[in-house]
Parts: sequence; C-alpha cells; structure tokens
Amino acid sequence: MSHSNLKGKKIVIGITGSIAAYKAAFLTRLFIKAGAEVQILMTHAATQFISPLTLSTLSKRPVYTDVIGEDSWNNHVELGLWADYMIIAPTTATTLGKMANGICDNIIVAVYLSARCPVFFAPAMDLDMWHHPATQYNVKRLQSYGNLLIPVGKGELASGLQGDGRMAEPEDIVHTIANFSLPAPSLTGKKILITAGPTYEPIDPVRFIGNRSSGKMGIALAEVAARRGADVTLILGPSSLSTDVSSIQVVKVQTAIEMYEAALHYFPATDIGILAAAVSDYRPKDPAQQKMKKKTDHLQLELVKNPDIAASLGQQKKKHQMMIGFALETNNALENAKGKLKKKNLDIIVLNSLEDKGAGFNHDTNKISIISKDNKIRKFELKSKAAVAEDILNVVDELIAAEKV
Ligand code: PMT
Repeated sequence: MSHSNLKGKKIVIGITGSIAAYKAAFLTRLFIKAGAEVQILMTHAATQFISPLTLSTLSKRPVYTDVIGEDSWNNHVELGLWADYMIIAPTTATTLGKMANGICDNIIVAVYLSARCPVFFAPAMDLDMWHHPATQYNVKRLQSYGNLLIPVGKGELASGLQGDGRMAEPEDIVHTIANFSLPAPSLTGKKILITAGPTYEPIDPVRFIGNRSSGKMGIALAEVAARRGADVTLILGPSSLSTDVSSIQVVKVQTAIEMYEAALHYFPATDIGILAAAVSDYRPKDPAQQKMKKKTDHLQLELVKNPDIAASLGQQKKKHQMMIGFALETNNALENAKGKLKKKNLDIIVLNSLEDKGAGFNHDTNKISIISKDNKIRKFELKSKAAVAEDILNVVDELIAAEKV
C-alpha cells in the first residue's frame, strides 16, 4: 500500500515499556519506507523490551531516552515543534496517566507537552488494565485534549488472556496517520476581536487599581482561534504574558478607556467579538500627576465609572456580528450571567465562578458553563484554558453553522 502523503513528513515516535515495543521496529521501518523522517524517543522501561541500537539503525538517527543526554540537552521544545506528527506506540497505562495529567518526568511526555502537531496514541496493555475505569478515564481526557486514539485490537494478550488490549498493528497505524487530514479550519475568513487581561487604572504615576487577571484565558482563545484559521486581533491589558503566534495582531493597552477605544476602533470590521478581559468598572477621577505622599490617616479616592466595553459593542452590533461575553461570578452565578447576557446584547456568555476550585483568575485551568440566548446551558468539566478555548469555539462553530442553514 502506498503512503505517499508521508514523504518528507517529520514523525516523532515515542516508545514506552510494553511487550508490544517490538512492534515499534516495524512501525519505524514502514515510516522510513514511506519517505518520512523519524525521531525515536524511548522511556527507560522501553529499552528493556527493545534495543535503542535497533531503532537508531532503522531510523538512521540517534534515539533519545532522556531530556539530558550524556553530553548534551535534547531540546524537547524543538522536537515538539519539529514534528509534523507524534505517535506514542505503544502507550502504556502509566504513560496514558502521565500524559493526561501532564506529569513530565521523561522525554516522551516533555515532547508531548511541547508538541503543536497532531498527537496519536496507540495503547497496549492487558485486558483488565485496559477496561479499568482509570485507564478509560485517561483515554477520554487525552481525547478531550484533541489527541487521537488508535484503538486497541482484540486477541491473545501477553498474559494469555484473550480480549482487548493489543496494540494496533504497525500497518494500521501508518495507514491512519497517512490518511489523517486536519479538519478544514472552521474559522477561516472570520475576523475575531478578543479582549484579554486586566486593566490598570492609575491613582498616581506609581499606583493603580487593577485585578488578578493574567490574560491566560483570552490568549488561549486567540491562539485556538488563529489555529482555526481566524484573523485575530487581541486587545491585551497589562499582562506579563503574550503570544508568540505571529499571525495574531496584539494591541497592548493599560486602562479601561484605552481598551474601550481600541475595541471601538476594531469592532466594525469584526465578525466575532470575544470579551474575556476583566475590565475595571471604575477609575480614579483625577489621578495625581506626582507620587502621592503619605500625609493623613485616611485617604478617599473618588472613582468614576468606566465605559462598559461589552455593552457598548452590544449596542452597535450588526446582524452578521456575534458577541461572546464572560461572567466572572462569586455568587448567584447563573442568574447574574443570564442578566449580563441580556443587558449587553451578547449571543452567548461564558460563566466562570470563583466558587469553583481551579477556575477563573490566573489558573492554567478553568471550569465554565456556556449560556446561550435561548437559555440553553452547556456545562463543562475543569480543564486547561486551551481546552476551554476549544469548547467555546466549538459552540461558536455550531452557532455559525446554525445560521447558515
Ligand atoms: O485572565 P485570566 O487570569 O486567564 O482569567 C480569566 C478571567 C477570569 C478574567 C476570564 O475568564 C473572565 O471571566 N473574564 C471576564 C471578567 C469580568 O470582568 O467579568 P464581569 O462579569 O465583570 O463582566 C462581564 C462581561 O463584560 C465580560 O465579558 C467583561 O469583559 C465585560 N466588561 C465588563 C466591564 C466593562 N467595563 N467592560 C466590559 O467589556
């Protein structure tokens, strides 16, 4: 069978410690035969099942078993970015668990966490291990991150038991990867405006009123939207973070007024506005021009209301435009979020509550519910902000598709 799609492709194969590791030699040969470049990574356990020498000979490259090599550092970030595809075959129950939880104690998981390419995993284990709820839970989690399962086969297992758990055959793995094509980017041609991060409202030249937003949620949305083909403008408040995705236009602002002005400027040409910023509702009326001195026991600051960016854009929203707001709540979450959805003329609102552990400001994770105008509520588990961004944009895709009907 010809696999000409694989010619010139760069493939990282991660081999973990299972009896099925011997099949990785056949897998390597098939990829090389198809014209791919192959970089092999092995766990130490895997080297007990098959020799790195065999695999380096077949792949024509050194095999890496450690992030720190004998006399060099094997750059896992570079490898993650180099790969067009990554396949972990066999994937043991241990490695599934490490990948699902981001436990980065070997070179395979380090490259996996750095990879931006499609990642496939081909589990191999004994019958009951495979059917154990912990294993199945980890498989589902990996799939929720967008990783692609190459299903196990049925048959005789190393234990002598019969049933599920055999690693897929190398020919099937190569066939799956050769015929894999990424779904057409769903947001191609769409202009998306995203606000992210906090705003800082000056009290004097050294002090400000701000909040704990890191910008992570909005940046994740910008990156996922760009990957889906959108033309993204990110209006980012004062955050130490940014993005290295060069296609994203980043507009840096400090205050709510600056964010408001930038949003008003870009919104008319926008198809979808996503308001993930934590905008200060008030600002000091007359910020001092010089650093304020400590003179009295009490100090009163007069605050004035900032413009509500979401509400202003909501007022001028045209029929072809869509707006997604966020609601950060501490109590009466659902009721408040529904109120904001209506008041700001949003199409959907993403509710995150500080009552949920791991959700909201600064965490790498978030737990959201998405409420749409028809009062439909979609609830999601706690997951990485990148995965949350995928969920939000999946709903956006659904809304776009529904409007086309
Ligand atoms: O940045 P991270 O650390 O990753 O944290 C992410 C987040 C918690 C900041 C994000 O998930 C989030 O919830 N953002 C909105 C926070 C917020 O200010 O919510 P709100 O309920 O006060 O505002 C409702 C909506 O109106 C939001 O879309 C907000 O961007 C918008 N708004 C609010 C006030 C204002 N003056 N202008 C606005 O546009």
